[in-house]
Amino acid sequence: MSITKETELTGMKKASEAVASTLKEMRNYAQPGMTTKQLDDFGARILADLGARSAPYLTYGFPGSTCISVNHEFCHGIPSDTRILQEGDLVNIDVSAELGGFWSDNGNSFVLGKDIHRHQQLVDASKQILHRAIYAIKGGVRVSDVGHLIETEAKKRGYKVIRNLTGHGIGRSLHEEPSDIANYKDRFNLTRFRKNSVVAIETFISTISTYAETLNDGWTMVGNKGGFMAQHEHTILVTEGKPVILTEMNGVWN
Ligand code: CO
Ligand code: CO
Repeated sequence: MSITKETELTGMKKASEAVASTLKEMRNYAQPGMTTKQLDDFGARILADLGARSAPYLTYGFPGSTCISVNHEFCHGIPSDTRILQEGDLVNIDVSAELGGFWSDNGNSFVLGKDIHRHQQLVDASKQILHRAIYAIKGGVRVSDVGHLIETEAKKRGYKVIRNLTGHGIGRSLHEEPSDIANYKDRFNLTRFRKNSVVAIETFISTISTYAETLNDGWTMVGNKGGFMAQHEHTILVTEGKPVILTEMNGVWN
């Protein structure tokens, strides 16, 4: 959406604070021995207390309030009471929700407890690249140039990017125009970021895969060549200068 009045900015800020604080609290709550369903139930309660409603549930009928993906699962993992989190797991939590007619989205990958499987380098790469990508965005910048930056930064660090997962416009629904903020230079995409628009920017940095494929459960996505993927996502307001990071309080950069 494009922000045209103060009440819209206030609404986006409120929705963004709800998803950001939910993500932050879920990250702090996650412990080895806990099921992903327990973690999702905890997040669902926070969203409900804030008056927010799960975006994937509302939009797609997703069987959970948040997406929780573990290890080889890249994204859209279904919270499950048989999936038990373990020390050293690479966990991705993605929280998106609607509040008062405004929609916001954020997510992050992290290592649970001690990094016994050495995922931290991948996580740090994804964090740093999201930071660089976001601060390269202002009104007039081509979407494909940001994709180029993400891909170049990933390559520099020895990683790949997932080509069929993208960031997206957001605001009055979960997915809006521009719908394909890719992690690579899509030379056919001539779209430019527009001042005052709200977009969700996300990284999809992977060890060996370049595409994500859906499992038979109809939701969970894994890599076409396996391996691991880290994602970090913020919802931002594009300006003429530095963007306003609406979900900044999730603390994924700290
Ligand atoms: Co998103
Ligand atoms: Co998301």
